[in-house]
Amino acid sequence: MKALVVGSGGREHTLAWSLLGSPRITEVVCVPGNGGTAALPHCRNLAMNPGDFEGIARFALVNNLELVVVGPEQPLADGIADYLQTQGLKVFGPCQAGAQIEASKAWAKALMVEAAIPTARAEAFSDEAAALAYLKQAGAPIVVKADGLAAGKGVTVAQTLEEANQAVSDAFSGRFGAAGHQVVIEEFMTGQEASVLAVTDGQTIRPLVPAQDHKTIGEGDTGPNTGGMGAYAPTPVVTPELMARVQSEVLEPAIATLRRRGIDYRGVLYVGLMITPEGIPKVVEFNCRFGDPETQAVLPLLETPLEEVMLACIEGRLDALDLRWKPGAAACVVVAAEGYPDSYPKGMEIFGLEEAAETGALVFHAGTRRRGDSTVADGGRVLGVTGMGDSFEAAIANAYEALDKICFENMYYRRDIGYRVRG
Ligand code: AMP
Ligand code: GLY
Repeated sequence: MKALVVGSGGREHTLAWSLLGSPRITEVVCVPGNGGTAALPHCRNLAMNPGDFEGIARFALVNNLELVVVGPEQPLADGIADYLQTQGLKVFGPCQAGAQIEASKAWAKALMVEAAIPTARAEAFSDEAAALAYLKQAGAPIVVKADGLAAGKGVTVAQTLEEANQAVSDAFSGRFGAAGHQVVIEEFMTGQEASVLAVTDGQTIRPLVPAQDHKTIGEGDTGPNTGGMGAYAPTPVVTPELMARVQSEVLEPAIATLRRRGIDYRGVLYVGLMITPEGIPKVVEFNCRFGDPETQAVLPLLETPLEEVMLACIEGRLDALDLRWKPGAAACVVVAAEGYPDSYPKGMEIFGLEEAAETGALVFHAGTRRRGDSTVADGGRVLGVTGMGDSFEAAIANAYEALDKICFENMYYRRDIGYRVRG
């Protein structure tokens, strides 16, 4: 079987690599892919825009790429899965109606309330004056979220009322485009965050091993938020008892409520959790896709071939699937270009990739591209280096050992990834 992966990040390199780990998958085409997928054996890139649904469908049909896996949220929110299905392709990723769970925070919040899923109390506003009046009465700390997709920049955790007011004004001033025409203002929650990526066929929903990521740029979890600077799995903070609660209080009610609304959701449901000091798993957000960089830590631990999991979701037989995991732990350290998440340089040649791979670590590319025979940086997050081991200590040491072999100008990474689980 041949597969097509839509996207160009570290998550998509990991998806392509993981699919090719199955003896049944003979070839993967990435649209548009990156420098890592270009160099991966049995994988090639196709320079096409992920928004070109017709082009993707035609290419997949002509080349017999039976399985299409969609990495990022934007094409899902734009209806790629619906379109490709009507063309007769097997698509892993939810329909446009289901992708609303990430594309509209107000929609997701209403679903959580309907499903009685534990989450922060919230109100949605499409009028700036009403939002500001609400803030005045609610006070700080408080969280302001632009409703729509804002590339991870739409959320302000405001410690003061001034910051909250500013966030509301920014959103309504058009800073996030249409994404900010509505804001959700919600109660500030404290606790430890964790990511549970679950796979579903619309009836059955099953969690993958739980992960944690480090969202901020600076060591000690300081500084501005990023797409994610590192992740590890399986995190012990989500104990089996807690996972059982997530299953019965979050995953099953979410899928049942989607179904009641007539939405046949098949793909990944990503749950961003806040585990409160009382040990209650509350939902911070839902995403309609795999997490990045969580995927770089979770999929290397998956023993069951990924394409079997995906086909079971697409074909509605997830209940019968044997989901097996490798023992041990994985830790991914993200390497960025200095300046990320603001402005950063591109085009720097990356050295030591082969030496890094010789340590046994998995070097996943994110913002990279091939230039002649070399690989150069081409984005804010450049690489995700995943170390593997019997313990977190060993996995983290493996990741940093590999990182010592890699260098490029203006390279930046956090040295404290996994500090909560180091011995
Ligand atoms: P989101 O895009 O909704 O995941 O928000 C981004 C980040 O903001 C989360 O990962 C949290 O760290 C933080 N955050 C979002 N909502 C809340 C909340 N209600 N209370 C505290 N922190 C939050
Ligand atoms: N790592 C956070 C996300 O993928 O949304």
